[in-house]
Amino acid sequence: MLGRMEELRDRTAVVTGAASGIGLALSQRFAAEGMRVVLADIEAEPLESARRALADSGAEAIAVQTDVTQPDQLSALAQASVDAFGAVHVLCNNAGVFTAGASWQVPRSDYEWVFNVNIWGVIHGIQAFVPIMLEQDEPAHVVNTASMAGVTRAPMASAYYMSKHAVLSLSETLYLELENGPVGVSVLCPEVINTRIGSADRNRPPHLKRGELDDPSTFELVESALKQATAQGLDPSVMAERVVEAIHDNQLYILSEAGGAWRAACDARLEDLRLARNPSGPALALGN
Ligand SMILES: NC(=O)c1ccc[n+]([C@@H]2O[C@H](COP(=O)([O-])OP(=O)(O)OC[C@H]3O[C@@H](n4cnc5c(N)ncnc54)[C@H](O)[C@@H]3O)[C@@H](O)[C@H]2O)c1
Repeated sequence: MLGRMEELRDRTAVVTGAASGIGLALSQRFAAEGMRVVLADIEAEPLESARRALADSGAEAIAVQTDVTQPDQLSALAQASVDAFGAVHVLCNNAGVFTAGASWQVPRSDYEWVFNVNIWGVIHGIQAFVPIMLEQDEPAHVVNTASMAGVTRAPMASAYYMSKHAVLSLSETLYLELENGPVGVSVLCPEVINTRIGSADRNRPPHLKRGELDDPSTFELVESALKQATAQGLDPSVMAERVVEAIHDNQLYILSEAGGAWRAACDARLEDLRLARNPSGPALALGN
């Protein structure tokens, strides 16, 4: 079947944001499936230890330090992947960051940083790798990490929610553009996962650091709620399980479990849209 990857063994996977959290779990799972793995991340040391751990477990893995906000670095990553392993079959555009705050108070630098990583990072990945995948003309798959934030609504995290809606839309567009060819597309929408996203600021570039805020308390409140929530979140390996299944089935939407609070919030939002009515369902806030 077109766009369906039956076999992962001996194929090559590239993962951005691979040094931590969901990206690390994806890399470990792909290695366990017998894939060759290219780990890409902006953080050099955790990236190298992730590579070493995979290599020690017997996997074929390389690490390429990559800042996804820089298109040239994605082109270099694609070249390094092809040079090392001859082809690329799975691309996970997964690197992402988070900021909080009321939309009228969030500094422009926050919007820029989050959009640069979460939106431009995915665009750069698609532009560097999809032409190679089409040229190869064998089954391949792109997985973009959005979020349940991409299918729901909430106050106090506008930059993040907007960015994840953009990733959802881009993934749907890509799916439709590629559906008659060898490249499948999935969009991963995790709920709350136990990762280091609550400390995303560690990777903020100096020129986009926040200046003095008029009222830092609201920012701090949401950001500390995120840290608490993620500490009790699902293990990232659950996301890796869902992603492998979705690649096998060429399933576009990878959502949280049906019946859970995030799916209820998504359903309520869709119903409000269908009826053109004001938000009525649970506005799922971070920490719920
Ligand atoms: N943790 C959650 O609850 C959750 C929920 C929904 C979606 N997500 C999404 O999952 C993805 C992975 O995040 P995570 O939760 O594993 O967080 P994490 O902080 O543990 O991992 C993110 C990785 O991305 C890397 N990164 C940051 N900026 C980068 C850049 N410019 N270039 C390359 N790499 C960069 C970081 O160094 C880190 O290793 C993100 O897109 C995030 O938005 C996370």
